[in-house]
Amino acid sequence: MPSLSSRPTIIRRSPIRRIAALLEEAKRKESIISFGGGAPSLPPPREVVEYLAKMLREEPAKAVSYTSTRGIPELRELIAQDLKKHWGVEYDPNQVLIVNGGTEGIYVALSATIEPGDEVIILDPTYLGYSEAIKLFGGKVRRLPVSVESGYQPSLEELERIISPLTKAFILLSPDNPTGRVVTEKFVRGLVDLAVKYDFWIIFDAVYKHISFGRKTPWVDAIPEARERTITINSFSKEASVPGLRIGYVTGPQEAIDAMEKIKQYISLAPSAAAQYAMIKFHEDGIKDRYLEEVVIPTYRKRRDLMYKLIKEYLPEARTVLPEGAFYFFVDMRRYLEAMNRNDEEFANRLLYRKSVVVIPGRYFGDKGKGHVRMTFVTEPEDRIEEGMRRIAAYVSSYVF
Ligand SMILES: Cc1ncc(COP(=O)(O)O)c(C=O)c1O
Repeated sequence: MPSLSSRPTIIRRSPIRRIAALLEEAKRKESIISFGGGAPSLPPPREVVEYLAKMLREEPAKAVSYTSTRGIPELRELIAQDLKKHWGVEYDPNQVLIVNGGTEGIYVALSATIEPGDEVIILDPTYLGYSEAIKLFGGKVRRLPVSVESGYQPSLEELERIISPLTKAFILLSPDNPTGRVVTEKFVRGLVDLAVKYDFWIIFDAVYKHISFGRKTPWVDAIPEARERTITINSFSKEASVPGLRIGYVTGPQEAIDAMEKIKQYISLAPSAAAQYAMIKFHEDGIKDRYLEEVVIPTYRKRRDLMYKLIKEYLPEARTVLPEGAFYFFVDMRRYLEAMNRNDEEFANRLLYRKSVVVIPGRYFGDKGKGHVRMTFVTEPEDRIEEGMRRIAAYVSSYVF
């Protein structure tokens, strides 16, 4: 075999994808309770499913055709109206680029903004989809630590300290994965001031924007000075419960959208037509807002509150914060892990082996995540959350007491 390029060697394989593959294999094993991957277990709205089925039956050629790279104009218009309604921000539909999920959005955003040698600041811990993509484009990862003591809120003073002449972008994720934190207005305001002062991009990952239990996330480019330097990544995976349809969108300044569209032409050519038609339906007749308000948020809120109560009850020495958004608890388990003489990865492996419960080791999200685990409440219903937490408590107490 001729040699491969060096690109795959500069990135690591995603450990969460490995766990997802394991879970897929173990799917038939009812006994495994997953607090692992962040894939919604709720079905998408019934109207969307029925519309898609009907379309595939009655207009199959249309449903599986190519579309333009930027995406179907009607969908981009509906998205622009929806963003105006929820966040008060005006986008021209041409400033909306439909992508194959937030993952492609992150890829085209970094590809269009980062030169080799540029630095990109991300939080520690943070979603693990950023660091390797940054490295693929020759960028350097700088990390801004956050901790449970400050409710996982980043500090503007610490941010300014790590900004350098090489800083080209800051990735903001709110609501956050893995911590559930929603950033403050004050932080976003200060971040925009720093971005203007030091001339860098803000890549705002808003894939969890509609999954919030109280305070909505501040919207970065609602601040006028942010408009020309913010690219926002959106996804329908979480808000429409369609992670397998692979559909989302990116907004940003026109020049940046045009550049990202050009790159997308050579990555995936066009977004899936069927997924786009399904998302047009999602925006019609108030389906989206009703689904979020009446199904998604009440379901996840109940699960979140239950998991929080059980963490407090069963793991009183653990520390965490009640997530304001997204669907994860990031739990500082150091007091237990020290007594058990295990690190978070060993703990997660043993817990799966001994008790058939999946949690994600905190170290996968950055060095500051060591000694923590991420537990999602999006996958399992309440009775299984209860059972899973009971098993964790039994496993921990067999060591600690
Ligand atoms: C923070 C964050 N960004 C982006 C994604 C990518 O999602 P998708 O590609 O399904 O839109 C995820 C998925 O879990 C995520 O948690």
